[in-house]
Amino acid sequence: MSATKSNAMSEHAPEIESILKTVSVSLAKDAPTRSFCTVHDTLDSREELQDIRRNIHQHPELAFNEVRTAELVASKLEGWGYTVTRGVGGTGVVATLRSGSGKRSIGIRADMDALPIHERSGLPYASVHEGKMHACGHDGHTTVLLGAARQLARTRHFNGTVHLIFQPAEEIGAGGGAERMLSDGLFERFPCDAIFGLHNHPGVEAGTFMFRSGPFMAACDTVNITIRGKGGHAARPHQSIDPILVAGSLVMALQSIVARNVDPNETAVVTIGTLHAGHAPNVIPDSARMEVSVRSFSAEVRASMESRIRQLVTSHAEGYGATADIDYVRGYPVLVNSEAETEFARQVAEELVGPERAIGNFHRIAGSEDFAYFLQQRPGCFVRMGNGANQPLLHNAGYDFNDDNLTVGAAYWTRLVERYLAE
Ligand code: NI
Repeated sequence: MSATKSNAMSEHAPEIESILKTVSVSLAKDAPTRSFCTVHDTLDSREELQDIRRNIHQHPELAFNEVRTAELVASKLEGWGYTVTRGVGGTGVVATLRSGSGKRSIGIRADMDALPIHERSGLPYASVHEGKMHACGHDGHTTVLLGAARQLARTRHFNGTVHLIFQPAEEIGAGGGAERMLSDGLFERFPCDAIFGLHNHPGVEAGTFMFRSGPFMAACDTVNITIRGKGGHAARPHQSIDPILVAGSLVMALQSIVARNVDPNETAVVTIGTLHAGHAPNVIPDSARMEVSVRSFSAEVRASMESRIRQLVTSHAEGYGATADIDYVRGYPVLVNSEAETEFARQVAEELVGPERAIGNFHRIAGSEDFAYFLQQRPGCFVRMGNGANQPLLHNAGYDFNDDNLTVGAAYWTRLVERYLAE
């Protein structure tokens, strides 16, 4: 929380900011975009945003326990004049600001939770909470949205209603914060014509925005399979039913789903992540257990994969005289960006940072994201933002959000809101 002015940081404005400043200032000179936010407009908030981001980074909180983070967020927003609602879907916070008499409304979402990882970044603001870490940059997503909140509140260059949605528990895979906020009446209590969100993306330069219309991120399901045979002596296999033989055969058979059942124009993954059975070489065990990760990019492929897995596992076990328990757990659904909103979001990025840093038709991502639930109910776009070319991967113990993105990201959300709610 300490907002000490570190003059070391302000001595050298990062290179990326001077590049982007040139781009958006020169674009701003060309008439119609003039009144909308540029990167230059948010530069003076860099130090404040960096302090907030590092403060959150140092105090990571896991899913549905984002108490300190939510309070920090809510108090900042109240200070800037927002109407703040706490406790939406657990520890979620929604901040509302109205300007003018416009009837349109927009939602922007940031996730706030950390991961159960022991941080090894060696940074001066590394996690002080043992075994918890902001290794996915949600500290940065939250701060970028706070930066936009600050800018929107001080300029109010929009005509309508903006809802800033600070979501808990994105990382838990099923029953996460998006579902909780929706079942808590998010869109009934805070109506949004469209919804937008972003995630940082290591491997691409900071200040770069990536877009893809249609299916963008995968649905991710987990299957827990237990094969039940009949245990016995290794020397008398004819008096047993060997579950390891069934499991071994099933490992190969499950690979036939992507190869033979999924349309070659579609993309899908079946990964057998665990296989456990037995405890001694001279014993045939009673059972074998497998955990399988299933990823897909369409509801049809997802449904057909579930049905094929159930058929193959059941008939395989039966064929060998065994039985199988199948626990099919549906995780987050396919994330589908709507066409018009994705093109709009790309245009805003192009205006802000230039065409080289606004990449359309970015490749699909096999990771999953519970922002998909919001997009099932409202049109919108989930954006990826480069976190630096040579940065550690997401969920790595050395990961850190790139602070060069704070002001650029804040300017992006501000301009997107201003353009969407243009007078
Ligand atoms: Ni994440």
